[in-house]
Amino acid sequence: MQNADTDDVADQACEVSGANHVAIIMDGNGRWATQRGKPRLFGHRAGAKRVREIVESCPDFGVKYLTIFAFSTENWKRTQAEVAGLMMLFRRYITRETQALHEKNVRVRFIGDRVKLDKKLQSLMDHLEDLTKDNTAVNLTIAINYGGRDEVARAIRDIARDVKTGNLDAEKVNEETLSSYLDTTVLPDPDLVIRTSGEARISNFLLWQSAYAEYEFIDTLWPDFTRDVFAEVLQRFDGRDRRFGAVKT
Ligand code: IPE
Ligand code: IPE
Ligand code: MG
Repeated sequence: MQNADTDDVADQACEVSGANHVAIIMDGNGRWATQRGKPRLFGHRAGAKRVREIVESCPDFGVKYLTIFAFSTENWKRTQAEVAGLMMLFRRYITRETQALHEKNVRVRFIGDRVKLDKKLQSLMDHLEDLTKDNTAVNLTIAINYGGRDEVARAIRDIARDVKTGNLDAEKVNEETLSSYLDTTVLPDPDLVIRTSGEARISNFLLWQSAYAEYEFIDTLWPDFTRDVFAEVLQRFDGRDRRFGAVKT
């Protein structure tokens, strides 16, 4: 009989996925709460709690980069009460999780237009990024007030400014230039984008970066997304044939 330690190592070895960067559209919190007769914010709270287990499973699954969509540039259209509740949750999540994330050697980054967020939240975000900047186990990127179109528009504005001041040659602007002006400049492109809750759309998430990502649209609502569900999705990803426009010989 094998001892427990050997079994654990064997389990982990089969779980390692080829997905280097996984991006998740964490959708379905509202419906999860409604199904339980609770207010939408109850679902957002449950959704925030899910994040830790998924981040912590990344090293076991060989996922080096995890990017999660927390609030879109379109989510300001929700009721003032829901938006305020979400902003309060972000502040609370960051305050509560900062130490644990650091202890787990997680490097945290934020993408999106943070200028529009309240000052207290911005300073918590800055502090978490700074505290964890030398960590190496997982690269967690949280998208808050993020929209793919907004990101590209901001990048083009910066490019135009640099061309105007003579710091950039307009004739030399190419795909790499644009990538380097995006919020995701230091991140590799996502290999896999997962959306929970059964909706098959990308809702303005990582539009430029996902040109060759694989997509998984799954019915599970975000507060029910466990490590085991994540493992199943990663296993399906590993079975896919990625061609990037070429023909396999
Ligand atoms: C995702 O859950 C979280 C955010 C967009 C902030 P939703 O709030 O969109 O949940 P549903 O889609 O209404 O169920
Ligand atoms: C996308 O979900 C944004 C986040 C998960 C943060 P939404 O619930 O806002 O997307 P739509 O409105 O259904 O497209
Ligand atoms: Mg939704």
